[in-house]
Amino acid sequence: MAIAATEPTSVRAFGPAAALSCRECGERYDLTPRFACEFCFGPLEVAYDFGAVTRADIESGPANIWRYRHLLPVPENVAELPNMNPGLTPLVKADRLAAELGLASLHIKDDSGNPTHSFKDRVVAIAVEAARNFGFTTLSCSSTGNLAGAVGAAAARAGFQSCVFIPAGLEEAKVVMAAVYGGRVVAIDGNYDDVNRFCSELIGDPAGEGWGFVNVNLRPYYGEGSKTLAYEIAEQLGWRLPEQIVIPIASGSQLTKIDKGFQELIKLGLVEDRPYKVFGAQATGCSPVAQAWDKGLDVIQPVKPDTIAKSLAIGNPADGPYVLDIARRTGGSVEHVGDDEVVEAISLLARTEGIFAETAGGVTTGVLRKLVREGRLDPGAETVVLNTGDGLKTLNAVSAGVTATVKPSLKAFAEAGLA
Ligand SMILES: Cc1ncc(COP(=O)(O)O)c(C=O)c1O
Ligand SMILES: [Zn+2]
Repeated sequence: MAIAATEPTSVRAFGPAAALSCRECGERYDLTPRFACEFCFGPLEVAYDFGAVTRADIESGPANIWRYRHLLPVPENVAELPNMNPGLTPLVKADRLAAELGLASLHIKDDSGNPTHSFKDRVVAIAVEAARNFGFTTLSCSSTGNLAGAVGAAAARAGFQSCVFIPAGLEEAKVVMAAVYGGRVVAIDGNYDDVNRFCSELIGDPAGEGWGFVNVNLRPYYGEGSKTLAYEIAEQLGWRLPEQIVIPIASGSQLTKIDKGFQELIKLGLVEDRPYKVFGAQATGCSPVAQAWDKGLDVIQPVKPDTIAKSLAIGNPADGPYVLDIARRTGGSVEHVGDDEVVEAISLLARTEGIFAETAGGVTTGVLRKLVREGRLDPGAETVVLNTGDGLKTLNAVSAGVTATVKPSLKAFAEAGLA
């Protein structure tokens, strides 16, 4: 049932969002909690009727993602509603890492400083507003770890019940972060793809009545949160698009929405239309999109994940084919690095820039290094690499410790060869 989504209540609650539209066939639907097209089963995304948006409007807004509220499916007064208010994280000029890699200009978009220490606070913030509009009482998700923490925190702040689903065997810090906010945390005996399948079944069952799954039945709204990374990067570069960007891939949603954000900025005249290359990054042990890229395929063959980069361990990524399209269209590529390189890259980033990334940031930094080494990234072009999560969540991936243990005396210090 396709309905024009223009009734005043939707427009008020969802700001400039006009409808959900099918990414495959373009069919439009009302702004409801639906995520797949009735005609072709294609994924739905938010379509907008943007008004005039100026740089000055944005710059005078709050110091968080709500400065971009006129580009998001949220109400005008969103900043006054109880939410985690993530965003406006630092774009770090990484001169020391650039020098080590032989790059002319490198920035790290460091999202580890968000409220629950990953970029997932951005997507959840938008999903919370949708859940509020639809009258859901429980916030839920299938998660590789970070999303569970972001949902737990956001639910607590906004007054929802929460119940999150994770694969058994996740990093301890991620489990604690999911549970500490007081919601239910259910570990499923299986991998992420099993968890996601289970959640899809729960939506159709009376047990899931009144539940908003941020990345399933609220997925079109949730995805829009990742656009704010594109907006921030452009604004922080002085309203310019980077020439090259390296983005991690789990489901691929973040990568496709960053591209959507760049395209919107161009269409709205907020940045100059210049080419940019998008590079996707996966860990070899879960690299279905990179493998499809290597083989020149348009479809993704699912894999069983086996990598320390658990936050990226989605074997059947929903947005995989769109990632391939974007990499092709922009002249980028999709690459993978092994777990050893992920660990090395975490250390490299920490040693050169003082940024402690979780394994996902090790994947992007590792892929950046690989692309430079293999001459497949222009060393003279302005490059941005994403760190999407905090290394404190994946402590076990690295083995760093004290240099020495000495008695509290200058003599002992000198004798240990430390003076
Ligand atoms: C730290 C981190 N980075 C990146 C991603 C990739 O997200 P997406 O599913 O949008 O590709 C995830 C997904 O869980 C994540 O936890
Ligand atoms: Zn369709």
